[in-house]
Amino acid sequence: MRVFASLSLVAVALASFTAQSQTPAAPKLAPQAQLATPQVSPKAQVVSQTPPMGWNSWNYFAERVDDKGIRAAADQLVATGMKDAGYVYINIDDTWEGERDANGVLHTNAKFPDMKALADYVHSKDLKIGIYSSPGSKTCAGYAGSLGHEEQDAHMYAEWGFDYLKYDLCSFIPDVMEKQAPHDRAAQMRLMQAAYAKMDKALKATGRPIVYSLCQYGWDAVWEWGPSEGANLWRTTGDITPEWDRIYAIVSQQEGLEEYAGPGHWNDPDMLEVGNGKLTLAENRAHFSLWAMLAAPLLAGNDLPNMKPEIKAILTNRDVIAIDQDQLGRQGARIYSDGEVEVWTRQLSGGALAIAVVNAGDTRYSTHPFHLNLRKLGLTGTQAGKDLWTGKTVELTDNEPLELAGHDVLLVRVDAPKITTSTNEVSVNK
Ligand code: GAL
Repeated sequence: MRVFASLSLVAVALASFTAQSQTPAAPKLAPQAQLATPQVSPKAQVVSQTPPMGWNSWNYFAERVDDKGIRAAADQLVATGMKDAGYVYINIDDTWEGERDANGVLHTNAKFPDMKALADYVHSKDLKIGIYSSPGSKTCAGYAGSLGHEEQDAHMYAEWGFDYLKYDLCSFIPDVMEKQAPHDRAAQMRLMQAAYAKMDKALKATGRPIVYSLCQYGWDAVWEWGPSEGANLWRTTGDITPEWDRIYAIVSQQEGLEEYAGPGHWNDPDMLEVGNGKLTLAENRAHFSLWAMLAAPLLAGNDLPNMKPEIKAILTNRDVIAIDQDQLGRQGARIYSDGEVEVWTRQLSGGALAIAVVNAGDTRYSTHPFHLNLRKLGLTGTQAGKDLWTGKTVELTDNEPLELAGHDVLLVRVDAPKITTSTNEVSVNK
């Protein structure tokens, strides 16, 4: 992380550049009307039919992750009810790696005395376990990467019993891309794609179903080629931090990407920061709601043994999780914004619809005045639904004034939306 900190900044800039310049303009029609039909491998369909859910060590523990912490996280996933709510993967991020021996076998460092035993422990809880590496010689935190040892490492992950790999570009940039193709951006991107394809092949050769998570910060419109390279998810941006401005910036970069997500292959706006840093409860709620609207992987990244009840309540809100995990697998989209207030919809199975109204402004005065325009959502008449954060029944009416605290969200599920028939309107249910 420290070694490649500057890369992350470049990545942020590039990711937003590619998102803006290489994807089609934001659709005026509902996103589902123009879904791409990417080539997705049968393996992808099997291991991530809905966006992966679990916990990852990086966002809170970073380099402080160890065997004990991973076992504690697995215990807590069960004890807190998160497992029952759908969280399955316990993912070890960077800094587990030791040195390679004379045969090229990578050993763990002292923090992880026995990876196989650890994987067995996590599996004994009826959970799955994930690991991390880089196609470069070094990971982002400067530990050993997989360059030149891809098959060997994939084989080892499978032997240990891993179910998930996050593969982070890191030193592959200076090691290979800049060395082999200096000043030739297109050739560098081809090298990068080939590196991801190589690990996909190595993982497939193990015969074990392993979720394949690409982490290359959204470069080269990864959403266009990721699915055909076996990716189940791909990062669309640089790193998240537990700050509203960063979270909101990431959300803004997802525009236009909705057509690339679907069962087996998901856009990944990065792991959750719910419960981390100084995020307010409203911000935690809005962050979680937006990730659900985006059909994003839900990988919690907080300190599970010390989780506050109100954070647990957010992470285990089953109604919101059901939006994220909806079987249709269609990513939601921002339909319109009015000042600092944004209105998002996501089409759900059975003809249902999720509506999220987000006050991106700092205070409730950003919603003075804000009136919900149902016609812009392709809806007509009163919409009966459920407010997923209060659990109460609500009726949304056209032109209704809504007041939301700064950085807060209203998330409503409408099971039977009344849809406008006019062809000039945005249709939510074609
Ligand atoms: C970054 C990555 C983070 C984390 C970190 C580990 O590149 O985006 O999610 O994995 O490396 O060093």
